[in-house]
Amino acid sequence: MFPFGLVAGLSSATPNSTTPFSFSPPTIISSGVITVPLSSYSFTPYPTPTLTPSQLGFPAADPLNPPNVSSDRQVVLDFAPAWTTAYQKARNLISNYTIEEKVNITTGVGFGVGLCSANIAPNKNFPGLCLQDSPLAVRGADFTTVFPAGIQVASTWNRALMRARGLALGQEFKGKGVNIALAPMMNMGRVAQGGRNWEGFGADPFLVGESAYETVLGLQHGGVQSCAKHFINNEQEQFRAVESSNVDDRTQHEIYAHPFLRSVMAGLSSVMCSFNLINDTYACNNDKMLNDILKREYGFQGFVMSDSFATTTTLSAVAGLDMTIPGNLYDSNASYFGGNLTDYVNEGYISMARLDDMATRIIAAWYFLHQDEEYPATNFNSYDQNDEVNNKHVNVQADHYRIVREIGAAGTVLLKNTNGALPLNKPKNMVLIGSDAGPGKSGPNEFLFGGGVDGILAEGWGSGTGTFSYVISPLEGIQERARQDGSSVSWDFDDWNTDLAGTMAIGQAVALVFTVSDSGEGIMTVDGNPGDRNNLTAWNNGDDLVLAVAAQNNNTIVVVNSVGPLIVEPWIEHPNITAVVWAGIQGQEAGSAIADVLYGAYNPSGRLPYTIAKDPADYPAQLVTNGSGSEVMTINYTEGLFIDYRHFDQANITPRFEFGFGLSYTTFSYSNLGVAAIQSSNTDQEDLIIAWEGGEASPIAEGSSVALWLHEPAFQVTFMVTNTGSVSGTEIPQLYIHHPSSACGPPSVLKGFTNVEIGPYDTKPVSIILSRYDLSIWDAVAQGWRKPDGQISFSVGASSRDFRLWGVIPA
Ligand code: BGC
Repeated sequence: MFPFGLVAGLSSATPNSTTPFSFSPPTIISSGVITVPLSSYSFTPYPTPTLTPSQLGFPAADPLNPPNVSSDRQVVLDFAPAWTTAYQKARNLISNYTIEEKVNITTGVGFGVGLCSANIAPNKNFPGLCLQDSPLAVRGADFTTVFPAGIQVASTWNRALMRARGLALGQEFKGKGVNIALAPMMNMGRVAQGGRNWEGFGADPFLVGESAYETVLGLQHGGVQSCAKHFINNEQEQFRAVESSNVDDRTQHEIYAHPFLRSVMAGLSSVMCSFNLINDTYACNNDKMLNDILKREYGFQGFVMSDSFATTTTLSAVAGLDMTIPGNLYDSNASYFGGNLTDYVNEGYISMARLDDMATRIIAAWYFLHQDEEYPATNFNSYDQNDEVNNKHVNVQADHYRIVREIGAAGTVLLKNTNGALPLNKPKNMVLIGSDAGPGKSGPNEFLFGGGVDGILAEGWGSGTGTFSYVISPLEGIQERARQDGSSVSWDFDDWNTDLAGTMAIGQAVALVFTVSDSGEGIMTVDGNPGDRNNLTAWNNGDDLVLAVAAQNNNTIVVVNSVGPLIVEPWIEHPNITAVVWAGIQGQEAGSAIADVLYGAYNPSGRLPYTIAKDPADYPAQLVTNGSGSEVMTINYTEGLFIDYRHFDQANITPRFEFGFGLSYTTFSYSNLGVAAIQSSNTDQEDLIIAWEGGEASPIAEGSSVALWLHEPAFQVTFMVTNTGSVSGTEIPQLYIHHPSSACGPPSVLKGFTNVEIGPYDTKPVSIILSRYDLSIWDAVAQGWRKPDGQISFSVGASSRDFRLWGVIPA
């Protein structure tokens, strides 16, 4: 039996003996018997602070009917009325429930029982819930689409594509009868080698936050409930259940919690608390994180579920945990909830009001998504695709391959392009070198849960994967073009025979070398990598292969399919390497998307969602691997606010490629900067605004961090972007705030971006909105958001180090 909700669902999936892997269960260290309630919270659901809905810029929203995506943030959505209705229905439904029935709503039926990753049993007229991975596909289900990974859609910096991916995924989950998609994943990429970084959206909270916001809106628009995970500080895989991430309050607010705040603002239904401890308390038992930040500060009205087997005590219910999954303990059928929760309520350790709140939240989320209105029943078995009774083989793919292909291309980052190497222009002959250019030997589902590398790398490994219906390899994508162009194509997929690779490259107009780097969830070890990557070096002899080819061909183009940053120093400056295409983790249309970029059918507009360093030691945080596994290991987030580019800027370290960087087949120039304050339309919040302008922190209140006055548009930055080249292209203007030194923060922080498509030699106006929240820092003493003392300036430009225009926020 496989741990953590992962199941042997793919009957065709057999582990490849050349890439050994092993499953390793997490050890949870019990925090001992606690017999007193942990908190005095009254557990009434918190209202989000709402003024009059329908006010301009603050529309009442229903998750099934969100406003259209905007390339900039214009509105703050008000989900309060929809939650209120859902709460009323949920309270009615449970009004005649017994204690046991309420408890059953909060307790998964147990690992391996039911059709989905986790399941809540039906009760009276409530049909129960199917909870299913993953962030890029309906895991364990046939006739589904494997979308590009989170990191790929983040690399597009394009809100419309983020939303479109979320919507298509949401429709597939609904079509399969999944109630709750265990997605998106929004950890921060604090450590470059972190195993699950590819599931998430990069290494900057603002980019992660916007990606999360659009993905949640999209998923829920599709009808499925979205679950934001993993809350919080699960930044490495090794020892994930026996490490305490020690994080200061300001860093927590400004970096790690921000994407969850944005998810709540998108009308999020549920949150999954993580395995690890935070400041010495398990995440799923953490009153500060669950009750105070998530439910009080963010006004979160949905529910909190545990990661799979991450509950450590019944009293976590008091700390804010609403549901435990899969329900049983790792090694027995007992549960921390179930009968234990019933006893605790009967004995008065946990109040009835709290139990009511737990069940109400879970059922309210179901009503909130209108899942009581003809929602499809679960029609697949994620444990066994050959279960002919339960698997109805419903085909939910529609034409989603188009979105996959577009995001695959739009998230591809062009890092180097010299001598006009790209786009390819009918080359007379070409060679494709490296196993990543071709298909896997035994098809796209060769490895269980993606746990191996053979052929095009289109996903990482672990619970964040899907079942491929097909995968297009670069060979297929490129040959389709070669047929039209009359080019001859040869290939060599042997990564280890560098002599042969070099020989094959001789006399070719273009030599394309494909390299990879993979990682995944810590439940599997692949090629000696225990989820986290052991290093930042290309896999499968990649660097030597590149060098062997470059030694023989002066038009060598490197294509990289990597889960995250790699050190490219061994070859990046080689004069024969004319172009580098950072193709990322693209899903089932990987080869078509790569061909689209290589041939210029898609003019590259992807930008790096993380920094590529020259040396692994340049990164501010490293994996901590010296745990014993039997006692809690400490990971001190000593770098604080200075993750990724914030550290490189602060410590004056030159990266190889900076955060936000990416080339196009055209060039852009910037001009005419303007910045103006926007008059607030909410006169009843005037006092708060005046106090903020005077440097006071936002007051402590329920929903204080999502207050309208804090998030409504406050400043508008405008400028012009000109396409100075002869082909159409998309520029991604980025806005970075520079706080005054009194803020003791990073030199530059991303607070705005947009995407603008511009024809040859044309100019377009661009606008980026800033809120008061965007300009604030977290005051840990006052426990509020505060404008720092002194002048706030900003830059607009093409990356975190390529500023073109400078301005000052009006006082
Ligand atoms: C993972 C989660 C996943 C869950 C259910 C856990 O091991 O950390 O991301 O949703 O399993 O499969």
